[in-house]
Amino acid sequence: TLQRVYVTRQIPPEGLKILQESGQVQFELWDSDDVPVPRKELLQKVKGADGLLCVLTEKIDAELLDAAGPNLKVISTMSVGYDHLFLQELKKRGIRVGYTPDVLTDAVAELTVALLLTTSRRLVEATHEAKTGGWGTWRTLWLCGYELANSTVGILGLGRIGVAIAERLAPFKVKKFIYTDVAPRPELAGAINAEYVSLDELAKQSDFLTVCCALTPETREICNESLFSKMKKTSIFINTSRGGVVNQEDLYQALSTGQIAAAGLDVTVPEPLPTNHPLFTLNNCVILPHIASASYTTRNAMSALAANNLLLGLRGQPMIKELKL
Ligand code: GLV
Ligand code: GLV
Repeated sequence: TLQRVYVTRQIPPEGLKILQESGQVQFELWDSDDVPVPRKELLQKVKGADGLLCVLTEKIDAELLDAAGPNLKVISTMSVGYDHLFLQELKKRGIRVGYTPDVLTDAVAELTVALLLTTSRRLVEATHEAKTGGWGTWRTLWLCGYELANSTVGILGLGRIGVAIAERLAPFKVKKFIYTDVAPRPELAGAINAEYVSLDELAKQSDFLTVCCALTPETREICNESLFSKMKKTSIFINTSRGGVVNQEDLYQALSTGQIAAAGLDVTVPEPLPTNHPLFTLNNCVILPHIASASYTTRNAMSALAANNLLLGLRGQPMIKELKL
């Protein structure tokens, strides 16, 4: 008999095709990509399900697991991040969790470099000026920014994504890579010749500080007044991990008082960030709507990996990418 699965989003076609052709599951899905499934609908739909394929807008907590009931054996999230999953609850109930690292590393690293350069060279301000009459004449210091050449780039949380970012930035003649993490990671750092430093040193030395860590209780609001106050006035802060690693009020203060030069954010709290949020009023803050992994290739690869993780998990086999709980 077919196992029952609920899919919380109309995911990209490659994953759906795998589920359809598996002959293993019978699935229902929330048939939209433009609005998340309403919580009430989700709580009804998961009832009795063996597996759930979700995206990062769904909180997978005790309430949802209770609503699902004892059949639920596998959660497969189409994301590398897992802060929307209550891991303690999942572990307690013996539910296995699949996620999608690696397949998105290139796309996220590319977007991070794009956001860094957009911010450091003030591209959003520049196109706005060109379009709206601010381009009076060529000027010697107008729209000047900061270059990567001879700079120090700091990585907060060195994983696969941080390494991929450094590999892409190295050809821009970066002088030095530094990183911090809970412990040195020589096997990763060696490939990019990065030096392990404390969080304080990372803040002090970085001309560009890019956040690449997971959001966990340990990293929540790790980027706050204490960190920003140690950064140089000419430094640029980039975050493509999770908004929750930043205290946004402290960041607003740092940006509006010139404590740091600029910030580029792909992630915020909440998402979407309300259009009247103070950060949107700042010329030195570039905000993107959580698009780091948004290439057709990568989103399809994530969809396929999430589908395969789900099917393997439901068969009681090792998943391709499984979170250790
Ligand atoms: C995106 O933010 C992801 O976690 O995959
Ligand atoms: C983090 O999830 C990474 O892949 O570096």
